[in-house]
Amino acid sequence: MQVTFVEYSQSDQDGIVHWLTSETWEYFETPSPTQEMVVNWVSNGHFHGERARSFWIQSEIGENVGFISVFEIRDPVPRIDLRVSASYRRMGIGKQALRFIADFIFREFPMALRIEGNTRQDNIAMRKTFAACGWVKESHYRALWKTDTGEYVASIGYAIIKQDWLNGTVTAVDWNDEP
Ligand SMILES: CC(C)(COP(=O)(O)OP(=O)(O)OC[C@H]1O[C@@H](n2cnc3c(N)ncnc32)[C@H](O)[C@@H]1OP(=O)(O)O)[C@@H](O)C(=O)NCCC(=O)NCCS
Repeated sequence: MQVTFVEYSQSDQDGIVHWLTSETWEYFETPSPTQEMVVNWVSNGHFHGERARSFWIQSEIGENVGFISVFEIRDPVPRIDLRVSASYRRMGIGKQALRFIADFIFREFPMALRIEGNTRQDNIAMRKTFAACGWVKESHYRALWKTDTGEYVASIGYAIIKQDWLNGTVTAVDWNDEP
């Protein structure tokens, strides 16, 4: 499904509160945020402000089907966060969103050298989405991410470097560099 990206603004507090509290976000540290939590995030500039920008992902009929944010936007290493509504998954939206946000960051923020994203080891959908878009696995932190059942799973870090984005390449990490 072809989607479009519409920048989120602070005045859309009701929209993001409704959207984030309407579903359960299994792989997040807060799977079921309350209205109060989301209002706090909005007023702290979590989604939009000096350090963050976000976009609604919209269907052909203008329905909000996803949301993508970039944090630490003025640093050399911004981080991203991506969510697609459960009923719109596996339609290619996640891949469009990752490509869109890399274009946005590298074009608008020349100081960005790389973009990072972290996910739980068992979040196969997100890991496949990173890999499909040329983001490279760079870190594997064992027993770091506490799940809602209390067990710890690995946190996996992916990144895309500006040089790969510019050249359309995927540069592997040199893991065999032990002296
Ligand atoms: C992760 C997420 C954003 C992926 O979005 P999506 O629109 O479903 O992804 P796409 O349809 O673009 O698929 C991207 C790739 O992942 C694969 N994929 C997607 N969901 C999958 C699943 N449940 N199991 C296995 N593979 C999956 C697709 O086959 C595709 O790979 P391919 O191009 O090699 O065939 C979406 O599942 C989501 O919002 N999940 C909940 C929020 C979340 O976990 N966000 C990440 C937090 S760090």
